[in-house]
Amino acid sequence: MTTSSLLEEAASISKQFDVSKDRLIAISNEFIRLTDLGLKSDGMPMAMIPSFVTGVPNGTEKGTFLAVDLGGTNFRVCSIHLNGDGTFDLLQTKSVIPRSLMVGTSKELFSFLAKKVDEFIKTHLDEKFNEEGGHAANEHIYKLGFTFSFPVNQTAINSGTLIRWTKGFDVADAVGKDVCQLLQDELNLLKLPVHVAALVNDTVGTLMSRSYSSPGEAATLVGVILGTGTNGAYAESLAAVEKLDKSASALADKSIMVINTEWGSFDNNMKVLPTTTWDDAVDLETPNPGYQMFEKRVSGMFLGEILRRILLELYEKGHMFSKASTPLTTAWSLDTSILSRVEADTTPDLVAVKSIVETDLGLPTTLIERQAIKVIVEGVGKRSALLAGAVIGGILVHTKACQSNPVVDIGVDGSVFEFYPGYEDLMREALKDVLGENEKKVRIGIAKDGSGVGAALCALVA
Ligand code: BGC
Repeated sequence: MTTSSLLEEAASISKQFDVSKDRLIAISNEFIRLTDLGLKSDGMPMAMIPSFVTGVPNGTEKGTFLAVDLGGTNFRVCSIHLNGDGTFDLLQTKSVIPRSLMVGTSKELFSFLAKKVDEFIKTHLDEKFNEEGGHAANEHIYKLGFTFSFPVNQTAINSGTLIRWTKGFDVADAVGKDVCQLLQDELNLLKLPVHVAALVNDTVGTLMSRSYSSPGEAATLVGVILGTGTNGAYAESLAAVEKLDKSASALADKSIMVINTEWGSFDNNMKVLPTTTWDDAVDLETPNPGYQMFEKRVSGMFLGEILRRILLELYEKGHMFSKASTPLTTAWSLDTSILSRVEADTTPDLVAVKSIVETDLGLPTTLIERQAIKVIVEGVGKRSALLAGAVIGGILVHTKACQSNPVVDIGVDGSVFEFYPGYEDLMREALKDVLGENEKKVRIGIAKDGSGVGAALCALVA
């Protein structure tokens, strides 16, 4: 293939990832429609799960808590001390979840989690807590917030049954079970003095932790994850959650409810979402084809795989990597961090791209090939950010947040948002399309350690 035609082909591929302003507005409108439906009844296309968190923190909260986080590539155990002034101290350990446990039995998975909690307490806490005579030592029990970042049917602050797995997990016998109970049972078997006090989606945790530590008066209204998976939670007026029985005493006098939208499954029937042949192929490779269709166009688990499929097709057509033999044939082998690193390279010769593709993918490249890769990466990354911006805009239109607040604060966590160069600016382009001038009122900030701190804050209110 001539050099100019490879670049033309790359440009035409990249163009297939364009999303027009009209389309972004249609996406936002459809999002609002499904939001309304999900608030009315259970079993709707977008789950709109009440989190049973009925207030957002203001930074004065205090205490020491345990938190665990299951939802991405790593399992984290942490202890968090909230200092009551918007700051916190956090101690944590991370372990990679063995692939076999992601697709094994619930017993295997949850006993692994309990063992990690046991190790953490023995190594880091027993002595420290006793010395300090802290909250946990006084009560002889650690209150634990369980960040579990999958769709659950939440029925109380500390219970919820798993609706389905996402992000490559597939532990069939756990579906329909109360995940807090599964964890509590395993902790009890190890005789650990731990009470699972709160079940928290990572987006709810992000909202809580950002609100605890965010600067100024503005309460945080939306929590967003743009990492391995994607999802958003927001503060909804309790009265609007029509499907919820509000007679429970825990809800008396409450005016808001944080809702976990589960927007990963927004528009599974593809009414407004854009698609390409590569998206369709990636979907078929997952354990849940036809589900999480929004997530599969936006989040880190999938962007690398979309790029791998495009590059593989170009290789198979003889357009690239002519000197390599059967590259890129292993599914899921192209890490999404590669997109961020490629996007970050602004040198004329794309020297960083050269070394990334050579080191991570084992492929020597010509300059034209690198330029082609960059053009394609830009298309895939930009579409992700625009789609994320459109649904965040949908939440703000639905809640009329910009009409009633001088500043609308949004907390975001996750590697795609954190590391993809220019992601926020691209998200803001879509926000402008949806919100017009009101986009200026939106303040977006990173909420680091959201899942740990947020889980602690939920354990506190539980
Ligand atoms: C899950 C959500 C989670 C998101 C981000 C999605 O796959 O369904 O519950 O919040 O990933 O981790």
